[in-house]
Amino acid sequence: MAVTTQHLIRYKKEGRLIAALTAWDYLTAQAIDQAGVDLIMVGDSLAMVALGYDTTLPLTLDEIIHHAKAVRRGIQKALMVVDLPFMTYQESPEQAMRSAGRVMKETGAQAVKLEGGYPAMAETVARLVQAGIPVMGHIGLTPQSVHQFGGFRQQGKSAVAAERILEEAIALEQAGAFSLVLEHIPADLALRISQKLTIPTIGIGAGAHCDGQVLVTADLLGLSSWSPPFAKTYTNLRETIFQAVQTYCTDVKEQRFPEAE
Ligand code: KIV
Repeated sequence: MAVTTQHLIRYKKEGRLIAALTAWDYLTAQAIDQAGVDLIMVGDSLAMVALGYDTTLPLTLDEIIHHAKAVRRGIQKALMVVDLPFMTYQESPEQAMRSAGRVMKETGAQAVKLEGGYPAMAETVARLVQAGIPVMGHIGLTPQSVHQFGGFRQQGKSAVAAERILEEAIALEQAGAFSLVLEHIPADLALRISQKLTIPTIGIGAGAHCDGQVLVTADLLGLSSWSPPFAKTYTNLRETIFQAVQTYCTDVKEQRFPEAE
């Protein structure tokens, strides 16, 4: 059965943890969907892992829609959530409606994700939800604000900053978000937020007490040239590809491939 936003909320009630990953093309989406992931995010991290940018900021709405359409074709079961890129929703709720509307109509996504909290983003979330668009929030280290933070730094370390993030989480839930990504915040803060909310929290670099976890798939597979300290690399595909391609080149040059008839 295909996973819906309502299933994720039910999973939290039942204490069933949610496994999420990112995807940027048809083949990755197909592989991770078939492996049983609950939630696939077409995150704007694709700007860095698929398009080679240093940050997520240059990504356009057309680019993420292009990738999301390919991901959609690879998914049969997981819930698909697509990021709204930098400056395609921050200007006004109307701009967010237009961008989210395009994502939903053109890609077949079941929800959109946007970064930021109280007060401006909570109003935008409420407007999208009223229009029938499920929204996942994203707070803590929000990579679209990397230049404001002065780098990809942990957020919510001081008591004041932690309270602010907790308030944002509550405001986003009240605005109607069905789930929240908590990125790179202290584990005790993520625990407080997860206990306070009825919607599921999906952590990345936020400790073990969230209602689910997400990783950038390129980090999990060991494909990325750089990955954050909290990422776990389960295999080294970069090395596997390197070895396979070297062997192929040698085989061609030494006439071992194709085999002579
Ligand atoms: O852009 C992204 O891939 C994300 C997830 C890692 C949460 O936002």
